[in-house]
Amino acid sequence: MPANPLPLTEPTAADFRAWHRVQSAALAHDRPGEPVPTQDDVRARLTEPVADSRLVLWLVRGAGEEAVATATLRLFSQPARSDVAEVEMTVHPAHRRMGAGSRLLFTVTEAARAAGCRSMVTEVMAGTSGEGFLATRDFRPVTRLTWLRLAMDEVPERIHKLPDVPHAGYRLAGWEGGAVPDGLAASFARARQDTAGPSAGGRDAADAPWAEARVREAAEAVARHGDHLLAVAAVCEVDGEVAGYTELVVPAARSGRARQYDTAVLPAHRGHGLGLWLKAAMLRRVRAEHPLITEVLADTADENRHMLAVNTALGYRPQRRTVRFRLELRRR
Ligand SMILES: CC(C)(COP(=O)(O)OP(=O)(O)OC[C@H]1O[C@@H](n2cnc3c(N)ncnc32)[C@H](O)[C@@H]1OP(=O)(O)O)[C@@H](O)C(=O)NCCC(=O)NCCS
Repeated sequence: MPANPLPLTEPTAADFRAWHRVQSAALAHDRPGEPVPTQDDVRARLTEPVADSRLVLWLVRGAGEEAVATATLRLFSQPARSDVAEVEMTVHPAHRRMGAGSRLLFTVTEAARAAGCRSMVTEVMAGTSGEGFLATRDFRPVTRLTWLRLAMDEVPERIHKLPDVPHAGYRLAGWEGGAVPDGLAASFARARQDTAGPSAGGRDAADAPWAEARVREAAEAVARHGDHLLAVAAVCEVDGEVAGYTELVVPAARSGRARQYDTAVLPAHRGHGLGLWLKAAMLRRVRAEHPLITEVLADTADENRHMLAVNTALGYRPQRRTVRFRLELRRR
């Protein structure tokens, strides 16, 4: 392997096949039993544009042209987010502990630095090679997450009835994709921005056009993959504003596994059981509108005790744990 692999600027069909080989071998080794993405999934993830960001790709081949390792670096164009890049590296299990990961990380780090980033973040399975590797490479653990799985046929009946239980002062609303009902668009955008934390880029909450554009972009990104973004909101009946919301993505095939996205209740409305109410309403909607969905996957930060309690009440069971790491990039 050359000391400094070059980014893959025009990947060929053979490159995608090689990439898929590394990913599927690593998945079978690191997370046995997990569904392996198809070659089309891999190609789509690497080539489809995501709003506000671009991917730099590296594919490392060995002396015999066999695929050894892959890396992606996501660089954000929006000034508020461009400081932090996201990295994902995978070394084929047959080629680990021979320095390939370290050399590739050096290349990726140099590229992030050259792009003006101040830090890189990544997420790895707890207790796997990735954790050991990153810890020896100056990455700092920042968040521990639990991934939970809910089998749709194990949702307790009382959960399906919960949306009918009135929550004084609130009503439920629902929509799909970017079709936020009139009158809720601005307050939904604000709620999303207020609760999104640093990923919202620290914009002023009053910057409404920006926040509404982000809602549309997020919905468009999901639609580009052919998937369906469902949203349920709790609306405060006093001021008509969104008090909390939950989002879930149903895959294009409308069957199998759905992914829970963000759920948040604004601080002023916490303590009224809205989180459980919202998520129960979403599950009932999934059961009614997408009967072939068999399970939902969610990730929750371990410090988020309330959300873990809500998920447990819904019937979710822990499946695996991951750790988010961050590397500060010192200026040279
Ligand atoms: C993490 C990963 C990229 C490491 O690749 P690699 O080619 O094996 O890494 P290196 O050979 O350069 O290892 C460098 C050092 O990292 C540490 N390390 C690597 N694997 C480790 C493990 N399983 N346990 C503990 N430490 C480990 C060691 O200090 C190692 O040096 P040593 O072999 O001299 O002891 C690879 O195991 C992998 O693809 N894992 C799955 C995906 C992942 O977790 N990626 C994380 C980064 S985004």
